[in-house]
Amino acid sequence: MKILVTGAGGQLGTVLTTSLKEKYGKNAVIASDIVKIDGYEGIFELLDATDEASLTKIVAAHNVTEIYHLAAILSANGEKNPIQTWDVNLKSLFNVLQVSVNQKIEKVFFPSSIAVYGPTAPKIDTKQDAYLDPTTVYGISKAAGEHWAQYYFLRYGLDVRSIRYPGVVGYQSLPGGGTTDYAVDIYHKAINNEDFTCYLREDACLPMIYIEDAIRATLEIMEAPKSQIKVRTSYNLAGVSFTPKEITASILKWYPDFKVVYTPDFRQNIADSWPASINDNPARKDWNWKPNYDLEAMTKEMITQLQKQE
Ligand code: SER
Repeated sequence: MKILVTGAGGQLGTVLTTSLKEKYGKNAVIASDIVKIDGYEGIFELLDATDEASLTKIVAAHNVTEIYHLAAILSANGEKNPIQTWDVNLKSLFNVLQVSVNQKIEKVFFPSSIAVYGPTAPKIDTKQDAYLDPTTVYGISKAAGEHWAQYYFLRYGLDVRSIRYPGVVGYQSLPGGGTTDYAVDIYHKAINNEDFTCYLREDACLPMIYIEDAIRATLEIMEAPKSQIKVRTSYNLAGVSFTPKEITASILKWYPDFKVVYTPDFRQNIADSWPASINDNPARKDWNWKPNYDLEAMTKEMITQLQKQE
């Protein structure tokens, strides 16, 4: 087994490569990213995933059998340059899918997002098959990507598996350019005894997930028997939903003097277009998904782990 991870230096990639190495051995994981990852221990390749020739070369050189394609431009950054975001997110996915067919890759993981939903989907308990009308270029790219993943499964039998992640909250790495990033930044400010300026309204409820749950879900969907993967676009995944006001209240139990001011910007419009909570019944039923972390458990972990890093 040889696993190639693209975007290995990103928020999810940083933690996922560590978990994959722990599980399958250091030599089974090839981390790749468009820039070097400082201090990375293990096999690493510089890779621009939009470059098909480079991807092909790396897959062949390492006899890769599985690809986790995490490289992408997220929602808030995506709005700064929509066409480039579409190009990067889709071109890299096409490369991964096509190289996987050409080189007989056994399994591919493609992360999607709750950003595939738009204003038409119900806000609360949004179901797997709710209408998809994303209004961000990131969401459009993920919704299209999911359908391309399904196309490659149906047309070529490629075993592509996918999760619609909520906003991921973790202490090991920083997110880059997403709308849900505030829920990581807020903990860093709290433990540094600084005030936090929140770019969302205090009542902006969004689906989130603690990193440990997010990584476990990824490993579990990839390990499930093929016959159990019934959704070939992407599975809804729920962790915990909360507002900036609620996460602040949970932090105040640890840092009673912590202060948050609210100055909503363009990211509030993105948040307004997304669900507040997600129904993930198909993931629970098909591959036994169940989250472990609620808001209080997440806050406890975030604060104690960040304090250790001080
Ligand atoms: N966390 C991502 C973002 O905010 C959503 O998938 O862009």
